[in-house]
Amino acid sequence: MPNFEKLKTNAQKLVTPGKGILAADESLGTIGKRFDQIAVENNHDNRIAYRGLLFNCPSLENFISGVITFDETFRDEVDGKRLVQPLLDRDIQVWIKVDIGVKAINDLGETVTQGLDNLDVRMAEYAKMGATFAKWRGVLKIDIPKALPSEFAIEQNAQALARYAKICQDHGVVPIVEPEVLMDGDHTIEQAKKVTSRVITITYKALSDHGVYLPGTLLKPNMVRSGVDAGTEFDAQAIARFTVECLQESLPVAVPGVVFLSGGMSEAQATQALDAMNRLVAKKPWALSFSYGRALQASCLKAYLGKVKNVEIASKVLLDRAHLNSLATLGKYEASHENNPDALADLFQKNYSY
Ligand code: G3H
Repeated sequence: MPNFEKLKTNAQKLVTPGKGILAADESLGTIGKRFDQIAVENNHDNRIAYRGLLFNCPSLENFISGVITFDETFRDEVDGKRLVQPLLDRDIQVWIKVDIGVKAINDLGETVTQGLDNLDVRMAEYAKMGATFAKWRGVLKIDIPKALPSEFAIEQNAQALARYAKICQDHGVVPIVEPEVLMDGDHTIEQAKKVTSRVITITYKALSDHGVYLPGTLLKPNMVRSGVDAGTEFDAQAIARFTVECLQESLPVAVPGVVFLSGGMSEAQATQALDAMNRLVAKKPWALSFSYGRALQASCLKAYLGKVKNVEIASKVLLDRAHLNSLATLGKYEASHENNPDALADLFQKNYSY
């Protein structure tokens, strides 16, 4: 029988005001693409060096409550000490990504996420190794002329997320529920809201049907915005309004927090949109925070370039970005805080996998 009180307390702790999550759980393929951008070879030593930089970043605990890792990183050791130990020492929770990627379920390009078959066994091991949080990402794509996402894909992904969430809680682990609606496409913000609202509604209905304890979960959704090919200007206020309305329509108040993914927005845009949401005067019974991958790491990677001599400056870049996002969780970020031109770089990648 899961300890419900503990699941609830842990979930709430993650979304303490002023703190958010660093997603550093890129699969072997995805981290390779990141390293390609800075001409670093994708080998184990280089992955350890880069993640070591992130995890040892001084003062990170002031703005980051959790870090999501990939299986390899969760197990990595350096000189007999776990690579994630500097995080644990500072009370930063270490998460484990437990899905193993997506698989096509029809010839329309829709997918469902894999990894349920032996999840119970893997979760028992992760929990034994100290994992208290886990992540599973479902991926849905909008294509209005083709009527996508289909109800079939929404339902399949919701069922997988719900089964995963139940297995997590049975092992005392808080599930982060991530049904990502991609920003690929030319849809309007209104269409994105309709789809995202439907996806979250069906997902949380499935969680409820599977007996998942909702106060012991966190939602990691996309923000609601128009498609990247819609030709509309970035508008943080519109994103904030549509996203909050979408959550009001679809997310139970029992859920303690929402930790958004950045989805391909630039670092500055992801921060601005989160800040706008937290400034918005509206009914918002959940903490609204961040769980960014690209939008926390892009400038840091660029400053690092795989060189030991750059570790200090790259750590500072990471900390500054985390600080700005921390301010955004409080609605206290100002555009004048941006002093790194790299933060404006577009981070969108078509059909993004993680
Ligand atoms: O699953 C997605 C990641 O955890 C967050 O990625 O912020 O780069 O979209 P992103």
